[in-house]
Amino acid sequence: MRTRTLGSTGPQVSALGLGCMGMSALYGEADRAESLATIHAALDAGVTLLDTGDFYGMGHNELLINEALRTAAPEARERALTSVKFGALRTVEGGFTGYDGRPNAVKNFAAYSLQRLGTDHIDIYRIARVDPDVPIEETVGAIAELVEAGHVRHIGLSEVGAQTLRRAAAVAPIADLQIEYSLLSRGIEQEILPTARELGIGITAYGVLSRGLISGNFSRDRQLAAGDFRGMSPRFQGENLQRNLDLADALRKIADDRGVSVAQTAIAWVLSRGEDIVPLVGARTRERLTEALGALDVTFDEAGLAAIEQAVPAGAAAGERYPQAQMAHLDSEH
Ligand SMILES: NC(=O)c1ccc[n+]([C@@H]2O[C@H](COP(=O)([O-])OP(=O)(O)OC[C@H]3O[C@@H](n4cnc5c(N)ncnc54)[C@H](OP(=O)(O)O)[C@@H]3O)[C@@H](O)[C@H]2O)c1
Repeated sequence: MRTRTLGSTGPQVSALGLGCMGMSALYGEADRAESLATIHAALDAGVTLLDTGDFYGMGHNELLINEALRTAAPEARERALTSVKFGALRTVEGGFTGYDGRPNAVKNFAAYSLQRLGTDHIDIYRIARVDPDVPIEETVGAIAELVEAGHVRHIGLSEVGAQTLRRAAAVAPIADLQIEYSLLSRGIEQEILPTARELGIGITAYGVLSRGLISGNFSRDRQLAAGDFRGMSPRFQGENLQRNLDLADALRKIADDRGVSVAQTAIAWVLSRGEDIVPLVGARTRERLTEALGALDVTFDEAGLAAIEQAVPAGAAAGERYPQAQMAHLDSEH
């Protein structure tokens, strides 16, 4: 497995990370046994970075990772690194009611996560969205105290803009910024990515398949379960969906010529954007995982990359990447 280092102070991780969210939430029902088998297969293949959030299924995802690590081969468990997001406030019905980045809340979230994960430390810890009522310095300062106490190894950020990156990096070393980045979501290229590079902060890119939209495995007729994020996502609605699937079809022509899959092409493009970028893939079956890992063997030369960008030009996506109310929580979009 190829590795990449997260920023100038972060850990060395596998060049692809496994995003575990869909195994507990947001993409409809997941099969528990298959989820565990997928995490094991990823660890066996050399994936070391497991990304989760304490609010993915209200602890369900962390408990799943706990079980996967307990039942993994000891050397695979040793290599595994946990990347945990916290801060989201939920309702019993599954609603999101805000974010809490107060220092005592940060320490409370961490205490519960360590218990659920069954580990004595979290490798990378980050607030999922900036709490607008708490200066980022205070939230990051609280994680820095957790680092000092040995409960956390590295500090990360999620969906923040350039100014917040600078403020946070002035408090403590930041390993990585987790943010959406794909052929359909290139917003970070103008200001956020150059700032992260200037500050020595790595990128863990999520949504590299735009939540399945540019995976080649999504169709217009796909029936989404109630509560599936994609049922509310502007990019999956009506005409937007058709236009975005047309982009996936354009990508398919390039993938076919090359003898690889659409998903592999989309992931390989993100991998090509820099050694400081680690894509998180949201595979929740071994089949999807195998396909995603295949992207590590796919490289495009300059002409190939240009053809990909011609098929899916920057800004071509139809629709915003989140519903309006959720866009308001994205510091990265302000
Ligand atoms: N920081 C943040 O704000 C944030 C936000 C969202 C996610 N994340 C993290 O990033 C991770 C990845 O995000 P994501 O799941 O939205 O992104 P993604 O990888 O773009 O999308 C995953 C979706 O793509 C589909 N897919 C089709 N072919 C696939 C293949 N070969 N490999 C993997 N997936 C394939 C999956 O299919 P099926 O539906 O058929 O299973 C799944 O629905 C999450 O698990 C989470 O840990 C972070």
